[in-house]
Amino acid sequence: MKKIAVFTSGGDAPGMNACVRAVVRTGLKHGMEVMGIKKGYAGMIENLFVPLASNSVSNIIQKGGTILQSARSQEFRTKEGRAKAYKHLTAHGIEGVVAIGGDGTFAGANVFMKEYELPFIGIPGTIDNDLYGTDNTIGFDTAINIAMEAIDRIKDTAHAHDRLFFVEVMGRHAGFIALNTGIGGGASNVIIPEEESSIMDIVKVIDKSKKRNKLFSVIIVAEGSKLGSASEIATKIDEHYGELRTRVAVIGHLQRGGSPSAVDRILSSRLGYAAVLALLNGKNNVMLGVKNNEISHTPFHDAINKHKNLNNDLLEMAKILAQ
Ligand code: F6P
Repeated sequence: MKKIAVFTSGGDAPGMNACVRAVVRTGLKHGMEVMGIKKGYAGMIENLFVPLASNSVSNIIQKGGTILQSARSQEFRTKEGRAKAYKHLTAHGIEGVVAIGGDGTFAGANVFMKEYELPFIGIPGTIDNDLYGTDNTIGFDTAINIAMEAIDRIKDTAHAHDRLFFVEVMGRHAGFIALNTGIGGGASNVIIPEEESSIMDIVKVIDKSKKRNKLFSVIIVAEGSKLGSASEIATKIDEHYGELRTRVAVIGHLQRGGSPSAVDRILSSRLGYAAVLALLNGKNNVMLGVKNNEISHTPFHDAINKHKNLNNDLLEMAKILAQ
């Protein structure tokens, strides 16, 4: 294999740059040419290919976002869009592709693989950590550290005024960010999409705190909570108590930006390095991951369709420690 391409796709995640750097430098070490594709699948369709040298990726390991930029492409969902993408990949002589992204990225690759013969290796890059086949995704550790720091700050002001805060963290369909920041931040409760809960369940937690004379609380709400947004839940809680006591903070995209943690830089470097070796070893159509500290290979089909479960023991522990 003499020429490969790398791209980042879907929601950016801190560590993507470290991963691109690892792909480029490992590829060069093995005598390959490496091209970057800007803006994910959209750039593949629009022919946004750029050659990447060792210098192109110097001084980026510590940077958030992605130097290749990212996108969520609708056109790649069409047969015509994928045909354009393939035309450009072959015109540039690309013999293997490294795709860094989330489930949408691998779903795209999985369809593409059925139509064209070109090896694809996936690397899990999403702050949500909701991908089957890896313990952690790139960006998750940084995101939970940012959210946890925000909770620490909110706790200071919540305590000062005996207030009840609802803090909304990201995680469209999954509660990994919410649960882990809730544990790390010592939150009173965590509302996640994976667990049924009601307004009265939250009221019980608040009343329990009050009974032991703890008059402030921070409750984490995952973006995908079935009870509604943090703001909707807060309104219902205020209605229940008949007073305007709650405050809401939505951390949002702050969790996606900024310098990646050491854990994410190392994970990204390992996965980028392993992706090039996987291509050289003839692997195809798989997402790499790290499970029990070993590199793992999961077929795209499983990475997309199998569900990664939350650790129920962690959930149980979070509740006990919050009391
Ligand atoms: O998938 C990553 C993620 O950050 C989710 O947590 C969030 O719901 C979504 O992306 C936000 O997407 P966008 O940046 O397109 O609004």
